[in-house]
Amino acid sequence: MNANVIQRVIQFISKAAGIVLTPDKAYFIDARLSPLLREENLGTIEALLSKVEAGDRRLSARMIDALTTNETFFFRDRTPFDHFRNIIIPELIQRRPAGKTLRIWCAACSSGQEPFSLVMLLDEMKAQLGGRQVEIHASDISESILAKAKSGIFNQFEVQRGLPTKLLLQYFKKDGDNWQISPDVVRRVNFFRHNLLEDPSRLGTFDVVFCRNVLIYFDRPTRAKIFAGIADRLAPDGFMLLGGAESTFGVTDRFTSHPKERMLHIPLPPRKAPVAVPGRAIA
Ligand SMILES: C[S@@+](CC[C@H](N)C(=O)[O-])C[C@H]1O[C@@H](n2cnc3c(N)ncnc32)[C@H](O)[C@@H]1O
Repeated sequence: MNANVIQRVIQFISKAAGIVLTPDKAYFIDARLSPLLREENLGTIEALLSKVEAGDRRLSARMIDALTTNETFFFRDRTPFDHFRNIIIPELIQRRPAGKTLRIWCAACSSGQEPFSLVMLLDEMKAQLGGRQVEIHASDISESILAKAKSGIFNQFEVQRGLPTKLLLQYFKKDGDNWQISPDVVRRVNFFRHNLLEDPSRLGTFDVVFCRNVLIYFDRPTRAKIFAGIADRLAPDGFMLLGGAESTFGVTDRFTSHPKERMLHIPLPPRKAPVAVPGRAIA
């Protein structure tokens, strides 16, 4: 693969999804795009790029699917789910009147393990919720991974990662070599396509946003823009959870840490731009 082709792939995925790839990732690009070339009967990455650059939206979506990393598992990293149970829900319940629906957004949900983990956790906490409805909205840029999430079908390896046996037996049915999560659980999640580079204002206001293990793929200005979009979509007393390797530090001033837990992020109002007084320098 020559340097020009690598550069065109890098430009494509940066513009389409915000994902930063560097020229030393030639092996990665090749490994990810080769199956797509075979399936589409295209001889080279250059041939694929020509079609995509000419506006082939189907191939463009397939190329995004191929270049995104969908690694996820049930109750991933455990701690965010502990914070959800021990801090977020108790605080929200205290502040919200009984009839108020709570809204959660999983902003890069991959094959659904994160929102499905929340459904199972919320079932466990039902008595605490005092009859409050909880909506779970889950989005991803990749149509194919969303289709997998909506199918609710997981293989043996996937159900062995992070999912307690008790929950496997309670919520899943064996289906050949795979496991099918209860359709009831799938129905409780509103899956939809959303590119984090796009304005999220049409999505309404959320009490909790999980945006985990996706910002690591973006550069700092993109992360800052996404944080601002999430801060605008969060209730003033809402919460944001990030992946273990992700931080707001040095990227945005729209969040601060929860007083009880550094890794739990709470929104700050946007800082007002200083007003220029004629004839005076702005400090
Ligand atoms: C590594 S997975 C993380 C899944 C889950 N949040 C977790 O922590 O286990 C990252 C997901 O981000 C999605 N993604 C990448 N770029 C995106 C973008 N610009 N907008 C929305 N989703 C994106 C990928 O398709 C992938 O499913």
